[in-house]
Amino acid sequence: MNNDIDKILYSSADIQAEVKRLGQQLAADYQGKNPLVICILKGAILFMADIVRNMDIPLEMDFMDISSYGAGTISTGEVRILKDLDSSVKDRDVLIVEDIVDTGRTLKALSDLLKQREANSIKICTLLDKPERRVEGVDVDYVGFQIPDEFVVGYGMDYAGHYRNLPYVGILKREVYENN
Ligand code: PRP
Ligand code: MN
Ligand code: MG
Repeated sequence: MNNDIDKILYSSADIQAEVKRLGQQLAADYQGKNPLVICILKGAILFMADIVRNMDIPLEMDFMDISSYGAGTISTGEVRILKDLDSSVKDRDVLIVEDIVDTGRTLKALSDLLKQREANSIKICTLLDKPERRVEGVDVDYVGFQIPDEFVVGYGMDYAGHYRNLPYVGILKREVYENN
């Protein structure tokens, strides 16, 4: 285990089991719809790669880079689009893939934007949901795990750009980010 990690919340095996369950559910729900599956960079990259491999139906993928955190552990509240989609969402059934829903600001801003662009339907699939921290009401349609209010990294999630490549989700030691 990485020395900066206090505790593993979900092992790679825990995650893969949950991803398989979600993927099968999504494949059933999106059968015949050719959904546009949107990965929210950068945090959702590993989850996206695993979830689509478990959806055995025709689909298309696109990528959007949205950031609300900058380098710290607390959301700045300002949501910035760093890279927009390549494809049009008009009349498409859109599935947003996220690693974590925290305050909900990222997904609120994104859902509003995709509604404006006239998507036929918009649903959200997140690996982790931290409901205690919610500021914006967002409907999360597919959730892997609900987690307590701890700062987690790994499986795509970072602190100041680090730890995204860890194959598990872990709680970061406080000493790593305190006094920073
Ligand atoms: C993180 C995370 C979600 C978002 C959740 O992304 O990956 O996208 O914050 O927070 P919210 O619900 O409070 O909006 P971040 O902005 O850190 O960008 P990153 O994915 O590139 O790390
Ligand atoms: Mn993100
Ligand atoms: Mg981040």
